[in-house]
Amino acid sequence: VEDRVPVGLVGLGRMGDFHATNLAGRIRLAHLVRIVDADEGIVRDVSGRLGGIEWSTDYADLLNDPGIEAVVIASPTPLHADMIEAAAGAGKHVFCEKPISLEMESTFGAIEAARKAGIKLQVGFHRRFDPDYRRAWQRVEAGEIGEVYLFRTSLRDMQAPGFDYIKGSGGFFADVTLHDFDAARWLVGEIEEVTAFGAALSDPGGFEEVDDIDNAVVALRFASGALGVIDNSRVAGYGYECSSEIMGSKATLRVDNHRRASVETLTPDSSHRDYVSDFVERFADAYVAGLESFLRTVREDRDPEVSGADAAAAFVLAKAAEHSYREGRTVRLTSETKNGEVFYREAD
Ligand SMILES: NC(=O)c1ccc[n+]([C@@H]2O[C@H](COP(=O)([O-])OP(=O)(O)OC[C@H]3O[C@@H](n4cnc5c(N)ncnc54)[C@H](O)[C@@H]3O)[C@@H](O)[C@H]2O)c1
Repeated sequence: VEDRVPVGLVGLGRMGDFHATNLAGRIRLAHLVRIVDADEGIVRDVSGRLGGIEWSTDYADLLNDPGIEAVVIASPTPLHADMIEAAAGAGKHVFCEKPISLEMESTFGAIEAARKAGIKLQVGFHRRFDPDYRRAWQRVEAGEIGEVYLFRTSLRDMQAPGFDYIKGSGGFFADVTLHDFDAARWLVGEIEEVTAFGAALSDPGGFEEVDDIDNAVVALRFASGALGVIDNSRVAGYGYECSSEIMGSKATLRVDNHRRASVETLTPDSSHRDYVSDFVERFADAYVAGLESFLRTVREDRDPEVSGADAAAAFVLAKAAEHSYREGRTVRLTSETKNGEVFYREAD
């Protein structure tokens, strides 16, 4: 197809492997030209699986390829900001996995570099592209909920990743709650107050060693006056859950936890339904739709549906939650609009 966007991808781990497979087969607008991973064994393997696609172990090879219009960054988080800036320097559009960085300064640096270079920058908040969440969002936008009173959202992993991952994750709130802050802003609006509680319950010693937690509850006050509550866990045990409610003056929306199959088994005294086990299974279609939307943004030269500034906002809110939890207080936030985008900071 003529209008396909030539794409390069860097980072073929858990997330990048999935994106590469989608870009090579499921995304109509994509022409995956070249893949890169620092680990030669991994990149050779994925290339073989994707029909012998061009590969390299050096990110610069993507940037120096004049045929590539856009890059997908799925490398470890500490590399994102530099990779975005280098792509901006080479005039390549960027889809980057969340978060942009674990530091505020390099987050804003990367956003500014993208803005100055005039490239598109979209960040991987997949929930915005999930068919169910999109339907909910459209109903809110259409005014069907009326005035929002209450937002409730749950994000729970079945089991914790290894401590090696947790150590480099930026902490529970930046790694997990980040997605809920983005969903809260998207579905309800800007947030003025964050109060967070956290605990390490499944393996207190292990989590204490990496100075992190495995469960949290976060209370929100929106600028509109609405209230919100986020609950998160790394150790739900029964499965992966992502469910939400928006309660309003005219209607309440409920996005339920997903099933593998819509089959319920009824036996005396009980019934059984299954659950999905992880985010890749739950959000498979959303990951595809997010990349498809990014490539449409490139082809049609319009603004991404979720921007670098949205990623920065979620990150500031996640840090506010962490400060609230560590200092045992409510953190207030202010936000201002610059170049049409909302930028947050802690008020005190
Ligand atoms: N949106 C989501 O739901 C979601 C889910 C999981 C992870 N993520 C994000 O995706 C990113 C990747 O996470 P992951 O779990 O796939 O990590 P991972 O560790 O599984 O994979 C990272 C890959 O990058 C490669 N790499 C490391 N340094 C490199 C370099 N200099 N050049 C090229 N390749 C290099 C590694 O060899 C590895 O294959 C993280 O930023 C993470 O936060 C997002």
